[in-house]
Amino acid sequence: MQFNNLLVQKENNLAILTINRPAALNALNADTLHELGQAIQMLTEDEEVKVIILTGAGEKAFVAGADIAFMQQLDPIAARQFALTGQMVFNQIESCPKPVIAAINGYALGGGCELAMACDIRIASEKAKFGQPEVNLGVIPGFAGTQRLARLVGKGKAKELIFTGDMIDAQEAYQIGLINQIVPHDQLMDQTKKMGLKIANKALVAVQLAKRAINEGLEMPLEQANYHEANYFGLCFATNDQKEGMAAFLAKRPPQFQGK
Ligand code: CAA
Repeated sequence: MQFNNLLVQKENNLAILTINRPAALNALNADTLHELGQAIQMLTEDEEVKVIILTGAGEKAFVAGADIAFMQQLDPIAARQFALTGQMVFNQIESCPKPVIAAINGYALGGGCELAMACDIRIASEKAKFGQPEVNLGVIPGFAGTQRLARLVGKGKAKELIFTGDMIDAQEAYQIGLINQIVPHDQLMDQTKKMGLKIANKALVAVQLAKRAINEGLEMPLEQANYHEANYFGLCFATNDQKEGMAAFLAKRPPQFQGK
């Protein structure tokens, strides 16, 4: 599939999906969002791909937000639809059965921070900067930033970041739990691929069920969430990889997982 605003590369069971509008700091317009949705669908169905890495083209930005030039002329109905489209695509990333890792190579602002938060794991260059600067433009976050930021870093810190529009550096983002790791800028892709490959070599169905158990369980009362976890735990025992993983452990040899 050919995309105008994305690059897709595959290597060693990893897919690297790059938002490719560097002249606009990879800002997200409707076309880019639609392509992102199509690419995620395509990679979800691609059996060679076990882990997806999402990054931004160029040296400066992961994604500097929703496209302000595109949004400027929207009426309230079109703006709501734009927000719903962004939310739909980001939900697709969050619920994609395959783990999605954000390799954050620079600015992750507004919709860019929201996109990173929809990913499962965030690895950032030491040069990355984060923020929800929408109030500087007279709007609020629209791609679920009010919800995902509050859930990730807590209500108080989310309100501070959203009300002030302040930008924070990678160190502060790490301290508040917005990102998982900071790495030297020139090692970002290598370190992200290393984590991607580590995950790709685990029992795939177990990783996928763990993702579902965490995402779905957080929306449920604890007792129900724990029962839900037990159901998925039980389901793992229907896989070859559970048989292989436990047999390999007991035979003191490395497991040979098939992803089945
Ligand atoms: N939308 C459209 N174009 C953007 C953009 C955006 N979000 N961010 C940057 N660009 C464009 C600039 O207009 C500029 O284009 P030209 O070269 O044609 O003038 C180009 O990218 C380079 O940007 P700058 O010259 O501004 O680069 P800089 O290094 O001086 O500053 C920056 C970098 C601090 C990231 C600055 O570009 C900036 O503040 N960008 C906007 C960030 C922002 O407000 N994001 C939130 C958008 S709203 C949103 O996302 C809503 C939502 O939740 C759905």
